[in-house]
Amino acid sequence: MAIEVRPLRETDDRTSFQSGDEQLDIFFRRFAGQNQFRHHIGATYVAVEGETVLGFATVTVGQIEIERLPLNLRRRLPDYPLPILRLARLAARRDAQGKGVGEHLMRAVFTIARELREKLGCVGVVVDAKPAAESYYSRYGFVALEVVEGTLEERPTPKPMFLPVSAIIQAVRPARPSKK
Ligand SMILES: CC(C)(COP(=O)(O)OP(=O)(O)OC[C@H]1O[C@@H](n2cnc3c(N)ncnc32)[C@H](O)[C@@H]1OP(=O)(O)O)[C@@H](O)C(=O)NCCC(=O)NCCS
Repeated sequence: MAIEVRPLRETDDRTSFQSGDEQLDIFFRRFAGQNQFRHHIGATYVAVEGETVLGFATVTVGQIEIERLPLNLRRRLPDYPLPILRLARLAARRDAQGKGVGEHLMRAVFTIARELREKLGCVGVVVDAKPAAESYYSRYGFVALEVVEGTLEERPTPKPMFLPVSAIIQAVRPARPSKK
């Protein structure tokens, strides 16, 4: 499978995208386009094979209070909010999962984080991981962040996780051949 990652286009067909996570699918179908092309509050990248969208990652800039970072990462950093890249959404089409789509998207996100570091500053990538996806991010080296705000009891709480930019190069696993 030849997978390419590129910015979302207005002409991309988003109507049939299904990852198995309804909230993510609704976001992609209804909001990813307007957030990117009208409101400019985030950028979505798609993994495509030809014209077919196999997955997407939405990123935006953000900041993090230093006291939420793991202790070993706070050293030498100033005591004010620090710039981060937020991985706001990530999903692969259900019938394409397990074939490296997520990995292609993660690599693209890591490239953006490195570019952001050079151009504007960036200490790392933050993702609000759904409980079922925590171990997916752990394998890239993401660690749980200190939670400062209160949590809602009635729904599974996404866990904020962090990967320092400095660890990104080491965190990317070697490319493996795509499965058919
Ligand atoms: C999580 C997700 C994006 C991964 O994408 P993918 O294209 O299936 O992942 P890849 O093919 O790059 O990687 C597959 C590997 O990740 C593992 N993996 C996939 N989903 C996982 C999960 N939720 N938790 C832990 N490991 C996971 C697979 O077991 C596989 O392991 P292997 O390489 O040892 O065989 C995709 O499964 C998905 O869209 N899930 C539903 C939506 C979701 O949970 N999004 C994240 C919200 S925070």
